[in-house]
Amino acid sequence: MIRLCVVGCGSFTTEAYMPMIEQERRAGRVELVSVCDVLEQQARATMERFAAKRYETDYRQAVAQPDIDAVIIGTNIATHAPIALAALQAGKHVLVQKPIATSLEEANTLLAEAKRRRLVLEVEPPHVRNPLCRMARELIADGAIGQVCWVRAVSAHGGPHYRRWFWFRDQGGSVVYDMGVHAINWVLGLAGPARRVTALFTTTVPERLVVTDPAFRGTIPGISSLSRPEDAPPGAPVAPTRIDIEDNAMLLLELRNGALASVTTNYCTLAHELPSYEVYGTEGTIYIGGPQGALQYFSKRAAPFGKGGWVTVSHQGGLTANPLRFGGRGATGPLAMPSTVTHLVDCILQGKRPVNDGEVARHALEIMLKAAQAAATGQAQDLVTTFTLRD
Ligand SMILES: NC(=O)c1ccc[n+]([C@@H]2O[C@H](COP(=O)([O-])OP(=O)(O)OC[C@H]3O[C@@H](n4cnc5c(N)ncnc54)[C@H](O)[C@@H]3O)[C@@H](O)[C@H]2O)c1
Repeated sequence: MIRLCVVGCGSFTTEAYMPMIEQERRAGRVELVSVCDVLEQQARATMERFAAKRYETDYRQAVAQPDIDAVIIGTNIATHAPIALAALQAGKHVLVQKPIATSLEEANTLLAEAKRRRLVLEVEPPHVRNPLCRMARELIADGAIGQVCWVRAVSAHGGPHYRRWFWFRDQGGSVVYDMGVHAINWVLGLAGPARRVTALFTTTVPERLVVTDPAFRGTIPGISSLSRPEDAPPGAPVAPTRIDIEDNAMLLLELRNGALASVTTNYCTLAHELPSYEVYGTEGTIYIGGPQGALQYFSKRAAPFGKGGWVTVSHQGGLTANPLRFGGRGATGPLAMPSTVTHLVDCILQGKRPVNDGEVARHALEIMLKAAQAAATGQAQDLVTTFTLRD
């Protein structure tokens, strides 16, 4: 039984972590011991709603308690590293939201601390172990699309207008940290580490209508896009706000395998139906997340089976619809992905390293930090970190 402390009782914790924890609790694998938030009312309400044993308002005290085995961190971006470090130093396993930190030094310290103390350090997002990402990796490894030449990844929506801190740099706000990190992790999961990055960042819509109350709990329609006062839910306290972050960024990566990748990320996209992730090789193409299905691929080798060489793997059809087996290692298995909380518990109980571990997260962070440098200086930047995926 893993005894949990959750730090940060905001939107993601309430809507995503708590259902994940509830699933593990029903399976008898975790106990929700404490919840912690600087806003006392949030902490108390979360304790009551999700039947935690107690609430706290000081994370240092919360993570240090002897009846805690693991800490889940769902706070504002600027606080991830200090809270994760306090938890590791108190001997607790950690699952932390993305990005792992806001400097490479902090990320290095977290990795060293976890390694030294033999603690699990799992970092969101978990895309490298997404079944579709794994399936694409298997197809690539089996030669289905030949040599990988280029990758395109998009992660964009209208903006998190429900919360003010996302729009201010000193609180960790950055569309690249918040959204670009998803596309970057997909690129890393599909095609491996990068060795060079360049980028352009801009602020395209500098004035936004943003909710002013940090405890606001309503939802804003249309993936939180809010451009007119009448879009705000009744009673939501919104104010025109001059933001100080980039809201629109494009990154170019040279990968270690010789391919190029582009990452498009912004808070300026209300709708798109393009595949979110695309991989192009000398023998074929893989799409993930388009309107046609969960994963679609074209392979010269698939031509006799698929429609004109295209094979679609849909969420409904499951993987049994996939007629292809390359080298006996065809993609099989369920499309559902164990949650990050399930993965945390599995890793603790089995003494395993998470697939979405600190190394992947540190490399993604270096890409984001060096992309910002490249955008500021106009100079492409070399990357020094790397990672190995442990599937
Ligand atoms: N993986 C995803 O798809 C996804 C989606 C949304 C948000 N997120 C991430 O989740 C995290 C939280 O986002 P959110 O939308 O829930 O924000 P939020 O503002 O709703 O929640 C953050 C909570 O953390 C609390 N907090 C801040 N500093 C604290 C501290 N030092 N100690 C204790 N509590 C503290 C705040 O009071 C707030 O209640 C962010 O890192 C965000 O990037 C991830």
